[in-house]
Amino acid sequence: MWDFPLWPESASTVAPSVENLYLFIVALNVGITALVFFLLILFSVLYYRRSEDQVPPQYHGSMLLEIGWTAIPTVICLVIFAWGVKVYAELVVPPADATDVYVVGRQWMWKAQYPGGQREINALHAVVGKPVKLTLTSEDVLHSFSIPAFRVKSDAVPGRYTTLWFQPTKPGVYHIFCTEYCGTEHSRMIGKITVMEEADYQKWLSEKAELGDAVQGRKLFSKLQCVTCHAGESQARAPSLEEIYMKRIPLAYDKGSPVAHGATALADENYLRESIRYPSARIAAGFQYPSIMPAYDESLVSEDELFQVIAYIKSLKKGQTPARVEQTTIPSALGAPTGRK
Ligand code: CUA
Repeated sequence: MWDFPLWPESASTVAPSVENLYLFIVALNVGITALVFFLLILFSVLYYRRSEDQVPPQYHGSMLLEIGWTAIPTVICLVIFAWGVKVYAELVVPPADATDVYVVGRQWMWKAQYPGGQREINALHAVVGKPVKLTLTSEDVLHSFSIPAFRVKSDAVPGRYTTLWFQPTKPGVYHIFCTEYCGTEHSRMIGKITVMEEADYQKWLSEKAELGDAVQGRKLFSKLQCVTCHAGESQARAPSLEEIYMKRIPLAYDKGSPVAHGATALADENYLRESIRYPSARIAAGFQYPSIMPAYDESLVSEDELFQVIAYIKSLKKGQTPARVEQTTIPSALGAPTGRK
């Protein structure tokens, strides 16, 4: 694109598609406005009143005109619709090989976590030509995560996960904005994304390396006593979590009501999150309502920790549930039934 300060750099694979549609709509608007003004002036010149008593010929309808001004705008709208659907589909479906990065918004910063456990605040790093999928949430109010140079934007909503993906096309440093008014320092909820070559990125990752999310999640899984009930055995007090990610789970109860036989829930990130925050919301077949599991609210598991626990559950393979540790005590704050006196 040309160098025009109101036009952000175009640096992702979807950017040209978004731009082309946008420019088409702008051109259409400019064209129609110009046509209206041209006709206005032309008709003023051709048909102005030439004498005090001049009466123009009267028209009482024209089939051709009516069909024309109905059909032409309809076709234009349908073209914009079909084109919009195509671009939207491109924007919402991430490639399967995208790198997963979790982003938590809060007043007033963006916190990011990488699969290898690297974390950063108000910054992201990505590789030229490699897709990245962001999973977004918020700890407090609505925020909106936007990278104008990539033409991508998604709300960060407390209580659920939303996603956004991009594939950078050139190295550089680009703005990250919060584009939803979220309080006093909304305008300072900004950051930078650095797009680098693969080798530089690997170097950066290894410098930032800490323990991976799944490894941190495994620690939390023991610390929060999840393993006491989710023991991975058939007689356990809670369902086994091994290899449940993206499986369809047969349900017994949905919001307290028994469900029809055969009803299922897809064990995606939002289902796992809900089952941790609100264990009684949807209960798997074979278990009773209400759930004996305590609700793990924000005072027990922060949004960051929740991502780690979910990363761990996603990584859990058959037979990998850690052995129960006998001498542990359930933190009293959880108020969990311990079965011990
Ligand atoms: Cu966060 Cu505006």
